[in-house]
Amino acid sequence: MPPRQRAPLPPMRVPVKPAARMLSAAAMPPHPAPRPTVARRPAAPLAGSLAVPGDKSISHRALMFGALAVGETRITGLLEGEDVLRTAAAMRALGAIVSHDGPGAWRVAGRGVGGLAEPADVLDMGNSGTAARLLCGILASHPLFAVMTGDASLRRRPMRRVTDPLAACGARFASREGGRLPLAIEGARDAMPLHYRLPVASAQVKSAVLLAGLNAPGDTVVEEPDPTRDHSENMLRHFGATVRVEADGAGRVITLAGQPELLAADILVPGDPSSAAFPLVAALLVPGSRVSIRGVGLNKLRTGLLDSLRDMGAVLTVADLRTEGGEPVGDLLVEHGPLRGADIPPDRAPSMIDEYPILAVAAACASGTTRMRGLAELRVKESDRLTATAAMLTACGASVTIEGDDLLVHGTGAPPAGGATVTTHMDHRLAMSALVLGQATAEPVAVDDASFIETSFPGFEALMRGLGAAIGPA
Ligand code: S3P
Repeated sequence: MPPRQRAPLPPMRVPVKPAARMLSAAAMPPHPAPRPTVARRPAAPLAGSLAVPGDKSISHRALMFGALAVGETRITGLLEGEDVLRTAAAMRALGAIVSHDGPGAWRVAGRGVGGLAEPADVLDMGNSGTAARLLCGILASHPLFAVMTGDASLRRRPMRRVTDPLAACGARFASREGGRLPLAIEGARDAMPLHYRLPVASAQVKSAVLLAGLNAPGDTVVEEPDPTRDHSENMLRHFGATVRVEADGAGRVITLAGQPELLAADILVPGDPSSAAFPLVAALLVPGSRVSIRGVGLNKLRTGLLDSLRDMGAVLTVADLRTEGGEPVGDLLVEHGPLRGADIPPDRAPSMIDEYPILAVAAACASGTTRMRGLAELRVKESDRLTATAAMLTACGASVTIEGDDLLVHGTGAPPAGGATVTTHMDHRLAMSALVLGQATAEPVAVDDASFIETSFPGFEALMRGLGAAIGPA
C-alpha cells in the first residue's frame, strides 16, 4: 500500500512543452458524433416502473474520495456516464487503481490523503464542471504539476470561482483569459487551511475548498449563506474525517479537521434525483400516465423540484423511504394530473439547480404563470441554461420572458404546439427536457444533438421508450 505521504516537492517547473501535452489530450477518443433525435406524443399513457442510473454528484465523489483513502473502496451503483468516467480516468492518471467489476460495480485502491502522483499527461474532464472543479481542490494541496482541459462547453465555463479561493492555500494556477480551461496547476507543497465564505451558492466550490483542506494542517472552514448539496460532507464523514456542520442563520458553517486518515469505505450510490426528474415530469404531462421510479436519492438538499411540482398541484408519493449508504432513498410514484403556475422562491434554487429546464417544461404545460426566481447561476452551467431554456420553449410555441435573473413561463393550461428543432448547446439536460416536452406537444419536438445525454443519463431514450415514450432518431 502506498505510504500516506508528504512527498518532497519536485523542483519548480514551468511546463516546458505545453503544446505537446495538449496534442496528446486532443488524441483522446472524441465525443461521439451528434445524434439528432425526435420525440412525439405517444399513442398511449406512460406506464411502468424503472430505476434511473446512479447519482452523478455522489459517483464523482465516491471515485475521488476512494482515491484519497487508504485501502480499497467498493462502489455499487456508480453512474457510468461520460462525466463520471472522466473522473475515473483522472483518478487512474493520478495513481489510484480503479477497477470495473461489472455494471455499476467499481473498486478504487486509494493512495491516502496527499498521496496522489503527478499525472503524465493532460487531464481531460470532458463536459464535467463537477469533475474539473472538485479536482482543482484535490490538486491544489498536492505538490505536483497538472494540466486540465475539457470539451468546448467546459472550456467556456468559469473556473476562477475555485482557483481564486484555492490560490490562498498556496497553489498556483495559470489559465486562459477569464480563468477558463485549459488550466495549469501547481499544487502547494505545504498547503494552508482555508477559511472561505461562498460568494455564490455552489456545492462545487464548497467541495473544492474542503478537498484542498484534506491535505492542509488545522481546520478548513467554509461558510455557505445558502445551503447546497452536502454529499461531500456526508462522504468525508463516511471515510472517517471529522466534519462539523453548524447552522448560521439560513446558512451553514462547515469545518473540516485537516489531514485525516481517510479509510476506504463501501459506497452504495442511490438513483439520481436529477435524472428521475425527466421520467417524472413526462408522466405528469402525458394524460393517463402512472409511473414509479425506484431507489431515488431524496437528500433534502436535492429535492426542490418535488416541492415545486407539489406547489404546482402535482400528486407525488414517496414509498418505502429508507436510508441507503447514508443517504435517504425512496420510490417515487407519479400520476398525470393538471398543473398550475407557481412562484418558485430563489432560496430553493440550490436544491433544484439542475432541474429548472425540466420544471420550465412542466410550467409550459400548466395553467397560469410560473415565476422561477434567482436563476443567475443557470447562466454558467453546461450552457447558458437561462437563455437556452427560454429559447427552447419559445421555439416550441410557449410564452416565456426573462426578467433580470427570473424566468417566467406563461402557461395556457395546454401544452405548447411543439414542431421545432431545439438547439441543445452541448447540454444534456436541455436535450432531455426538450424530448420530454415532445411527449406532450401535438407536433414533434426534435433536438439537434442527443449525444450529450450520455454524460449523465446513459440509456435515457431506451428507458423512456420502456415506459411507452416515443423517442427515436430524427
Ligand atoms: C454539483 C453541483 C451543482 C450542480 C452540478 C453538480 C455537485 O453545481 O449544478 O450538476 O456535484 O457538486 P454548483 O454547485 O456549481 O451549483
